[in-house]
Amino acid sequence: MTSAPEPGSRTVELDTGVPHIARVYDYWLGGKDNYAADREAAEKVIATAPHVLASVRAQRAFLGRAVRYLVDGAGIRQFLDIGTGLPSAGNTHEVAQRVAPECRVVYADSDPIVLAHARALLDSSQEGATSYLDADLRNPGAILEEAARTLDFGQPVALMLLGVLHCIPDDDDPHAITARLLAAVPAGSYLTIAHPASDIAADQMARSSRDYNEKAAAPVTMRTHAEVSRFFDGLELVEPGVVQVHRWRPDPGDQDLHRELANYGAVGRKP
Ligand SMILES: C[S@@+](CC[C@H](N)C(=O)[O-])C[C@H]1O[C@@H](n2cnc3c(N)ncnc32)[C@H](O)[C@@H]1O
Repeated sequence: MTSAPEPGSRTVELDTGVPHIARVYDYWLGGKDNYAADREAAEKVIATAPHVLASVRAQRAFLGRAVRYLVDGAGIRQFLDIGTGLPSAGNTHEVAQRVAPECRVVYADSDPIVLAHARALLDSSQEGATSYLDADLRNPGAILEEAARTLDFGQPVALMLLGVLHCIPDDDDPHAITARLLAAVPAGSYLTIAHPASDIAADQMARSSRDYNEKAAAPVTMRTHAEVSRFFDGLELVEPGVVQVHRWRPDPGDQDLHRELANYGAVGRKP
């Protein structure tokens, strides 16, 4: 255990002896907010599935392209980003407010280390707003209630669930949780998901998640293209649909589009 300051005055307890996904992901992205147990688990996944490094970078790039599309192409000005992760380059509010400074963003994550670093997520533009919730995706009602202090649920909201639904096992019904969030936002709202795949590099993904789950604080569940697509039931998928994250509306000059990355991404609109 170790202690770290949170944005207020209290300190938070971090369980540093077991791997946590926020810190493992931070390590894969080249960050410094991780501990020996996280690094060991992260390296073990790299040894089995080396493409994980390209995959997490591609996921951050997808986040950026999706947010730009939502603000610039779809006119969205409000975001609810759950499973935020440790602050990194190109956080949702930074990308959104660069295009439209009046954007309002609520972040939510359940890991105390993200809470401890959340100050970096609160540097909103003057015209917009950001807030941070220490909250669990498995309790969407509480997230929606708290988020309503910052967001107007009478206006379209973009729900951002990137790299987090695989942290919700089937027993906790991630599809029902997503449907509950979608029910709370009006027509014209959007859902963006990035989700690791079980049906691309299937053997490596199965082995790496089995290894990871043996040690980790919380297990991960990879899902198939059909299972990820089901999160978008009742929505209009934005072209090109559910594809590997790096193939979702790539920027001109993006490289290596032919390579296989076991990570699906998509954006859908609530009609
Ligand atoms: C892999 S990171 C993804 C970060 C970021 N969304 C991105 O795509 O770059 C997953 C994050 O989800 C958070 N998380 C996992 N389970 C969660 C839950 N049940 N409720 C809220 N956050 C959760 C973790 O703490 C971690 O910060």
